[in-house]
Amino acid sequence: MAVVEVDALGGVCLNRGCIPSKALIASAVQYQKMKNATAYGINLAAPPVYDWNAMMVRKNKIVNGLVGGISHLFKSHGVDHYSGYGRLTSKTEVTVFGEDGSETKLQADNIILATGSRSLAIPTFPFDGSRILNSDHLLEATNLPESLLIIGAGVIGCEWAFMVSMLDVKVTMVEMLDHALPMEDTDTSKLIERELKKLKVKLHTSVKVEAVTSGPQGVTAKLSGDKTVEANQVLVSVGRAYNTEDLGLEVVGVKLNKDGSIPTTKEMRTNIRNIFAIGDVRGEILLAYTATHDGTVAVDNALGAKEKIDYNGVPSVIFTHPEVGSVGLTEKAASEKHDIAIGKFPLRALGKAHAENEIAGEVKVIGDKKSDQLLGVHVVGLHAAEIIHTAALAVRSKMKVSQLGSMVFGHPVISEAIMEAAHDLHGMSVHLAKKK
Ligand code: NAI
Repeated sequence: MAVVEVDALGGVCLNRGCIPSKALIASAVQYQKMKNATAYGINLAAPPVYDWNAMMVRKNKIVNGLVGGISHLFKSHGVDHYSGYGRLTSKTEVTVFGEDGSETKLQADNIILATGSRSLAIPTFPFDGSRILNSDHLLEATNLPESLLIIGAGVIGCEWAFMVSMLDVKVTMVEMLDHALPMEDTDTSKLIERELKKLKVKLHTSVKVEAVTSGPQGVTAKLSGDKTVEANQVLVSVGRAYNTEDLGLEVVGVKLNKDGSIPTTKEMRTNIRNIFAIGDVRGEILLAYTATHDGTVAVDNALGAKEKIDYNGVPSVIFTHPEVGSVGLTEKAASEKHDIAIGKFPLRALGKAHAENEIAGEVKVIGDKKSDQLLGVHVVGLHAAEIIHTAALAVRSKMKVSQLGSMVFGHPVISEAIMEAAHDLHGMSVHLAKKK
């Protein structure tokens, strides 16, 4: 078994995505808590001051440690690591082009393509690394701007908006659809919009950026509807482009979708039977954790099994502040197919949320009115990305809402809100006032 990688081991998630951003978000949340120390009965001798440089050193140390860990795991599992750019030169051969000009030919019965994705640029104002940035640029920034315009209020846009606004950056966001996090349940979007507002983030929805011009002080963005926004820098977070160019795919006849992604079967096979594709590059779902699942399915099948991917109950986890965790159907999607019932429980009704001084958010449970089938759970609040996994297991196990509600949860914990929302769906939450 051999892995070819042109960059540091670990891909986007470890080097330029999940892990470094979560390290910086943890710093921003800590700073925000310190600014709010009096709420916990703590008087600081002086207002807290953050050191971006020190946060970056911490982030880099975490990333480098984990990258080293992969190298170690490769050795322990007998995986050969080839450093260089890999290109298919036949259906069973990959040529590795080393930085030193070397060319190594590797033969394999099965080949897995896991080349991922990169930030999608807007062609009329492409990334320049100084004024017009993607999240890779911000993760290496030597300092933060005073003001930042974020184009696209999806996952990356919202995570960065919370992080940098907690670090006192003035943030404006522009989203072409009608809500922030438009892929989530509308109640989730509204709650997140309210929290963005508390951090003084200005969000323009149903608006497009028509042009961005750079000047010595920053950028001016012209929005549809004749508004303009001035900011020191722009973060463009409008989705991803697939890394399928220059891989030799045309040489061996691997087919592509129109958007450049690689179509596969549920066994992760491309149109060439012994060539598999996994993760972002398939263009189906762009998450590191589903990519891991794809990988195990592809390897099992390469070794002769007949596995299929199973995304039933895969949660979405978004590291805003408060966090978002969701699984199953949104209210809109559920109501298209079912007669639905909804239960809700606000975090401000939970003792633990008050103890933590984190009362923003709610849990929403969606079920089928007649069969009581659990259809979806949407959490906004403290630790939402962790606690959603209880609900994910329930959705995956095809539980009824009453089964989720009948579990005895610990107390006091934030997860209790899941149980309470399940009870509320049947009008049975004892910790909510009786509905008239
Ligand atoms: P995204 O698809 O989540 O959001 C892009 C947003 O930009 C959408 O809301 C879209 O309506 C908007 N948009 C597109 N063109 C626009 C324009 N010209 N003007 C204004 N708005 C525009 O993509 P994003 O945030 O770039 O993230 C990329 C991928 O990475 C996603 O699939 C996401 O799931 C994944 N990711 C996951 C994370 C997690 O699981 N916590 C964290 C970060 C990224």
